[in-house]
Amino acid sequence: MSKPLKRIAVTGGAGQIAYQLLFRIVAGDMLGKDQPIALHILELPVAMKALEGVVMELEDCAFPLLKEIHIGSDPKQVFKDVDIALLVGAKPRSAGMERGDLLSENGKIFTEQGKALNAVASKDVKILVVGNPANTNCLILMKNAPGIPKKNFHAMMRLDQNRAVSQLAKKANVDLNSVTSLVVWGNHSATQVPDFIHAHIDGQSVTDVIKDKHWLENEFISNVQKRGAAIIAARGSSSAASAANAAIDAIKSLYVATPAGEWFSSGVYSAGNSYGIDENLIFSFPCRSNGDGSFEIVKGVEWNDFLRDRIKSSEKELVEERELVSDLMTV
Ligand SMILES: NC(=O)c1ccc[n+]([C@@H]2O[C@H](COP(=O)([O-])OP(=O)(O)OC[C@H]3O[C@@H](n4cnc5c(N)ncnc54)[C@H](O)[C@@H]3O)[C@@H](O)[C@H]2O)c1
Repeated sequence: MSKPLKRIAVTGGAGQIAYQLLFRIVAGDMLGKDQPIALHILELPVAMKALEGVVMELEDCAFPLLKEIHIGSDPKQVFKDVDIALLVGAKPRSAGMERGDLLSENGKIFTEQGKALNAVASKDVKILVVGNPANTNCLILMKNAPGIPKKNFHAMMRLDQNRAVSQLAKKANVDLNSVTSLVVWGNHSATQVPDFIHAHIDGQSVTDVIKDKHWLENEFISNVQKRGAAIIAARGSSSAASAANAAIDAIKSLYVATPAGEWFSSGVYSAGNSYGIDENLIFSFPCRSNGDGSFEIVKGVEWNDFLRDRIKSSEKELVEERELVSDLMTV
């Protein structure tokens, strides 16, 4: 007997990331090759024609798992009964725009979408915010959706994790699968902290395999933090295929049990965390899942001074971001 349909919302459906993401979802890369899917795609009215073109292409792929497509510009219609929401659509930073302006413009989008998800989505909807600034957008969304469990909200940190794994594997000249237990702490921004100290290569500490401490403490961290900017400089537009791939990986991590001794990075609500991080942020921690869509924050990963200083800077940045949009979180 076939599995019950899963309703997946994707916003920004005519954008770059969605042009990869939608096709990967219905090819079965995210929830498996036996999971029938209904796509619910949200776009701005101005991009609706382009979205119609994407829908034609989705139809032309004849994906057996794709059972329904719903498109529209009203989140209260598009989010009806969705089980998973991938919130990709956001306003890009334009020339001369301050961080506060970007936060508040995007904050309005995530306020509206939070209210809509709260009103019409499945009560256990799992949400991944991709649109930047992802962590604070996710916090605004969560505050505007009080009926949805706070543990259902994630900001995407997986691209940062994947970038870090790839950098370490390349430096150590090993297979990508050799790199495990890599967490990126904090904010999805240039203050993020890719943690090589607790990561392993073929079961050994990274620092035992890569002896170049200067590279680990400097180039490695900086390469991961600035990878997004490097891609924009080279490609002329921001990472899209790798971002879509990371969104797939991020959701898959919630629906496949995390292997023993492993963890994944996700921006999650910090309430009750055991690391002394401000308890009202969306902050990236090492997480584990038993594969049912839920997760827990891994406890007891000890920070040395090197990590603590950097993680605290990322926390400070998130507290400042939250202060800039406090008017959007009155709920
Ligand atoms: N978290 C991450 O790791 C990560 C990585 C890469 C990109 N991003 C972010 O993802 C976002 C999307 O990137 P992209 O390259 O696809 O951008 P894009 O500009 O190509 O596409 C964004 C789409 O979203 C739509 N949109 C804007 N506001 C909307 C709204 N209120 N409702 C529905 N749709 C809306 C736009 O019309 C556009 O089609 C950006 O904010 C980008 O910074 C995040």
